[in-house]
Amino acid sequence: MGYIISTVNMKGGVGKTTLTVNLATSLAKNFDKKVLVIDLDAQISATLSLLPPHEFGKLRKKRKTLSYLIDGIIQPNPYAKLGIHDLIYQSVCGLPKLELLPGDIELYDEYLVSEMLHQQAIDENKIENFAEVWNHFERFLIHNILKPVINDYDFIIMDCAPGYNLLTRSAIAACDFYLLPARPEQLSLVGIQLLERRIKKLKDSHENNNSLNLRLLGIVFILSEAGIFGRYDKYYDQVIRRVKQDFTIDQLFATDIPMDVNVAKAVDLFMPAVLTSPNSSGSKAFSKLTEEFLGKINTFNLNQG
Ligand SMILES: Nc1ncnc2c1ncn2[C@@H]1O[C@H](COP(=O)(O)OP(=O)(O)OP(=O)(O)O)[C@@H](O)[C@H]1O
Ligand SMILES: [Mg+2]
Repeated sequence: MGYIISTVNMKGGVGKTTLTVNLATSLAKNFDKKVLVIDLDAQISATLSLLPPHEFGKLRKKRKTLSYLIDGIIQPNPYAKLGIHDLIYQSVCGLPKLELLPGDIELYDEYLVSEMLHQQAIDENKIENFAEVWNHFERFLIHNILKPVINDYDFIIMDCAPGYNLLTRSAIAACDFYLLPARPEQLSLVGIQLLERRIKKLKDSHENNNSLNLRLLGIVFILSEAGIFGRYDKYYDQVIRRVKQDFTIDQLFATDIPMDVNVAKAVDLFMPAVLTSPNSSGSKAFSKLTEEFLGKINTFNLNQG
């Protein structure tokens, strides 16, 4: 059975999408792993990092995006014919082992979700326990969407939006591990702390029922300007040291990702940098990170066994 992974940080622009698509591509290309990327962000950055816009346009016209599945849950339609298998785009970037469930600029309507859950609470005589109905919905929304394909992949990696919206909460509830990319800056650390607090709260709210088993696979530092001023710029080192005090060594990735213009430019080619410029410093770091990622998963398997 495959592992489900969420890439999350409440803070925007820290490198969630870049990490997701490069890690997924490296796993598929260099390590022969079958990988599904799911774009849970209405900015569709992961989708457009892997597919040209005209290709995405064609899929969207045929409603072959994640929003079709979410709609099917929020407003069930007896005539809906497509399942998740029909929506998954295969051989992404020409790699036979890399697949994508494209995102959408309109993923769900918060008002419709509230209305549906309110009606459900009335029908089930649970209006007094509306929070319970809502929690249950969040707990299983992404889980149920993934259920038919979990065994088809080694890894399913979900790119979450910044903030802490319904889909992010549901992705966290459905995953085995989460990856936390962060810039070594004070505000980014606040983002880590806020997320950790929220995840603890989410775990507590499901403690008695369908408890969550997710764990932090690791914090990945995306080095910001540290790459320009040098890896050992004092300020960044101080911040990284502070994080090390709050987390155990196995909760951090030893590999940092440097800023590399090739990584940013790859987006223009609709392919991750590990494909467009495999010898660039950014791509090499992503490849090393992928090895470390697999090592962490192995360690976890050994501890389980
Ligand atoms: N290692 C890197 N080298 C150069 N540019 C990078 C690197 N990592 C990310 N970027 C650039 O930084 C910007 C933000 O990265 P990205 O979109 O991955 O962040 P994000 O956390 O997913 O953002 P959002 O919160 O908006 O979803 C992008 O323009 C991306 O190309
Ligand atoms: Mg993103």
